[in-house]
Amino acid sequence: MLRDLRSDYTYGTLSEQDADPNPFRQLERWLSEAIETHLYEPHGMTLSTVGANGRPSSRVVLLRGLDEGGLVFFSNYHSRKGQELEANPWACLNFWWPPMERQVRIEGRVEKVEPQLSDEYFASRPYDSQIGSAASPQSQVIAGREVLEERIAEFKARYPETVPRPAHWGGYRLKPDTFEFWQGRPSRLHDRLVYRLQPDGGWTIERLAP
Ligand SMILES: Cc1cc2nc3c(=O)[nH]c(=O)nc-3n(C[C@H](O)[C@H](O)[C@H](O)COP(=O)(O)O)c2cc1C
Repeated sequence: MLRDLRSDYTYGTLSEQDADPNPFRQLERWLSEAIETHLYEPHGMTLSTVGANGRPSSRVVLLRGLDEGGLVFFSNYHSRKGQELEANPWACLNFWWPPMERQVRIEGRVEKVEPQLSDEYFASRPYDSQIGSAASPQSQVIAGREVLEERIAEFKARYPETVPRPAHWGGYRLKPDTFEFWQGRPSRLHDRLVYRLQPDGGWTIERLAP
């Protein structure tokens, strides 16, 4: 059952003076530190989408590209997330790095990446991952695991060496307009800095109460 576990956060601080004025650089800084800390899956981020019916849903995806154009991840365009993004391109990403007592929330619009980038990334994946993502009808109900195994065998027979990228599998790019960097502090008095994109392309930084 739930236990009353309480941690006091003492890893670090986040001040207006230390934060990079550019949120992409601030994210790169924290991501590099998460990687150096040998966190398990530091690139894992929770993606939340909202479908046409207004119901939100979340799942973890891996960050595969980051620059001032946005944050890139790859998935099946027919999946639940794909259908929700088709109906409503607004989404939210959340990183949580427990040993560093940090989370980052990133909001923005999502668009599909250029097909060439999806081709390049798909081609760079191991054969078994290519087969898996080509064969799996992600998010659809299947009668049992054997359905998946049969499809994998069929796809392996059809594509013994190179697997073409399925048209319904590729990248998405979330173009942020808001970032919130959260650093845990003692006694729940956490540091929260929110960056908001301005019409001129610059970013404002404001502090939020914890
Ligand atoms: C650590 C981790 C990384 C994952 N990375 C991805 C990913 O990059 N792309 C993806 O489509 N699914 C990824 N998944 C699986 C998703 O969480 C999810 O189950 C799947 O995309 C189907 O989601 P949907 O039905 O909401 O569309 C990952 C899961 C975990 C736990």
